[in-house]
Amino acid sequence: MVIALCGYMGSGKSTIGEKLAYKLKYNYLDTDNLCEIQAQMTVKDIFEKFGEIYFRDLESEVISLLKVNQNLILSLGGGSLIKDKNIDIIKSKAKIIFLNTSFEVCYNRITKNNKRPIVNALTKNELIEHYKQRVVNYEKSADYIVDGDSENVLENILKLIKL
Ligand code: S3P
Repeated sequence: MVIALCGYMGSGKSTIGEKLAYKLKYNYLDTDNLCEIQAQMTVKDIFEKFGEIYFRDLESEVISLLKVNQNLILSLGGGSLIKDKNIDIIKSKAKIIFLNTSFEVCYNRITKNNKRPIVNALTKNELIEHYKQRVVNYEKSADYIVDGDSENVLENILKLIKL
C-alpha cells in the first residue's frame, strides 16, 4: 500500500510521514528529495537556476516514475497537486491523506528558515491567499483529511487507515 501525505508547506508532512513509516515499517519517500536526487541540487537551487516551471516538470516526472509495488509513505511537496495530471497519477497509485494544518502553524514553521523559494517571494498576506488556494486542491484530492494541528495526528492517521 502507498499512502501519500499532502498539505501546505510546514503542515508536518515530512515529520509525520517519517514517524508513520517507522511505525508501520514502510519505506519513506519525499517528492522534494526525489527531485533533489534527480537534479543533484537543492529545491532552492533548482528554483533559482532553472525556475519554477522546470521544478514542476521534475516533480511531475518523479511522481509518474514512482514505483507502487511497495509499502510506502510518500510526502508530497506542497505544490504537487496543482496539476490535475499529477492528482490523477497519485490517486491511481496511493491513498491520499490531507494534513490540514492551520495557516499560522504552517507560517511559523516555514519562516524559520529560507529553504522555500515560494515563501521567500511572497508577503504574509500573499501567503494567506496562496494557502487558501492550495487547500482547495488538497481537499479535492484527499481520500482522508486529518487535523494537522492535533497532538494526536499520528494516532489519528493510524486509526483512519486501520493498520
Ligand atoms: C512547494 C513546497 C515545497 C517544495 C517547493 C515548492 C510549494 O515542499 O516542493 O519549495 O509550491 O508548495 P514542502 O511542502 O515539502 O515544503
